[in-house]
Amino acid sequence: MHRKFSLNLQPAIGALIALSTLISGCLGGTLSRNNSGEYKNGLVVSAHPSSSKVGLDILKKGGNAVDAAVAVQFALAVVYPGAGNLGGGGFMVYRSASGELATLDFREKAPGLASRDMYLDSAGNAITDKSLHGHLAAGVPGSVDGMVKAHQKFGKLSWAEVVQPALDLARNGFPITDSQVEEFTELQEKLKKYNPGKSYFIKAKWSKGDFWVQEDLAKTLEHIRDKGREGFYAGEVADQIEAEMKKGGGLISREDLKNYQSQWREPLVGNYKNYKIITMPPTSSGGIALLQLLNSVEEYPLRRWGHNSDSTVQLMVEAERRVYADRASHLGDPDFYKVPKKYLVDPIYSKFRMSDFNWGKATLSSDIKAGEVPQESEETTHFSIVDRDGNAVSITTTLNGGYGSMVFVGGAGFLLNNEMDDFSVKPGSPNMYGLLGGEANAIVPGKRMLSSMTPAILEKGGKLFMIVGTPGGSTIITSVFQTILNVIEFDMGMQAAVNAKKFHHQWYPDVITFEKGGLDSLVRQKLNQKGYTFNERRAIGRVDAILKTPWGYYEGGADPRGDDTLMGW
Ligand code: DON
Repeated sequence: MHRKFSLNLQPAIGALIALSTLISGCLGGTLSRNNSGEYKNGLVVSAHPSSSKVGLDILKKGGNAVDAAVAVQFALAVVYPGAGNLGGGGFMVYRSASGELATLDFREKAPGLASRDMYLDSAGNAITDKSLHGHLAAGVPGSVDGMVKAHQKFGKLSWAEVVQPALDLARNGFPITDSQVEEFTELQEKLKKYNPGKSYFIKAKWSKGDFWVQEDLAKTLEHIRDKGREGFYAGEVADQIEAEMKKGGGLISREDLKNYQSQWREPLVGNYKNYKIITMPPTSSGGIALLQLLNSVEEYPLRRWGHNSDSTVQLMVEAERRVYADRASHLGDPDFYKVPKKYLVDPIYSKFRMSDFNWGKATLSSDIKAGEVPQESEETTHFSIVDRDGNAVSITTTLNGGYGSMVFVGGAGFLLNNEMDDFSVKPGSPNMYGLLGGEANAIVPGKRMLSSMTPAILEKGGKLFMIVGTPGGSTIITSVFQTILNVIEFDMGMQAAVNAKKFHHQWYPDVITFEKGGLDSLVRQKLNQKGYTFNERRAIGRVDAILKTPWGYYEGGADPRGDDTLMGW
């Protein structure tokens, strides 16, 4: 066992550190925070208080938004292991203070030995558990290479300086939050199943105020700190991944690790009224879908109809139905499939797609197919950061499901993703988010699986306006869509826009999912009479976002659905 739990002292130390975090957060804040809780010199909004603190410390030390983002990504791998990761992937959208744009795709890839029908049984039926849990579910991780590339291009502090805070959290420990007490305790059985005989990280019983030390993970971070990319994709950590794969029948090879490269992609840019939307092109479907959704509703008087009125909801749902049908057919890894990107994000196309919608009656999803285009051929986490110069980073990163494949790399202290489930394992067979897909997103060795993650940055009048994103599987796209409209059309501040209850439609299943207490019963009744059906659920999304106010301050929105925390100065 590499874990240390000193029973009597650590809760006290944890409480002290939590207190000092709180005090330094408050002190830092009072220096340059105006009365409405806005910050002048920079802001970090992420899923855990300890990762937000790491980001803020880096900013205060003179690091820029990318330095802080790299430090937060690594810190989340330590303090928020359900989604923060070394063994997963993600996307970064960047806008410098002077308006330079960049998007980085560090999405996982299918291993070289993967094959199209690897998750089908002999009768051709999808065996979903295989793509969801255990060694076979993991794609080749991209996060470490992504952070190296982001830092090389835009970082200001040294690599060691941005990795060290995560290493310290792993080696010295950090106080777990109250919600983690419950979650970690519940996880015990599943982890046992996928990590037989291993010193996996979760102890049996957790208590409030527990302090968590992860020495295996600290060693892995030490390799990364000292050797950069080679510290993960070669040497001891690569040996550990290879050994883990051999032991559990997984496919990731040393060759796959050696060959993995994250990729700079041309940012996807569109407009909504007088706002510019900068977001992620494929391998994410999120950017294209977000622009399509905004294009579909742009010419309607949403502001007059009001937030979540029956007309607003109906219009948004009909747009979502059509956009998710397109997603299923037309989107996949652009390195393997010709995505008709320009066509899909053209406002004229969205106008055409919306032309058959009838205000009197719900369109049936069975009547909606993907649009004809020319033949030219549940855990993730998001964080938003701005520094004192106004450089902005929007990163969504994931293992896919909570705790990914549940498989720990023996001795290395980190979890592998279950991202292979984001491929279409069989045409017409839904993935864990109920999403459908086909040829565009079929499994091919070396191909990236389609994603819904939608990190975005908005400009208004050529200046930074908003940084936004969220986890939530298929609901990511619609949550980002709603958060943007909440601010632009419905005059909400950032925190109110984040707090506002969300709803979601994704073509199939043909139902409007809404958060408990979200849609007014009268609105539902009216829409029900037109043929819309509803399904209530507990929470949709965990948006962490930043808005620049007209007076030049930064206002954060940290999602109260989780432990999300904003820290600025
Ligand atoms: O890339 C995707 O679309 C999914 N792997 C995201 C998963 C996710 O958001 C789960 N979180 N709640």
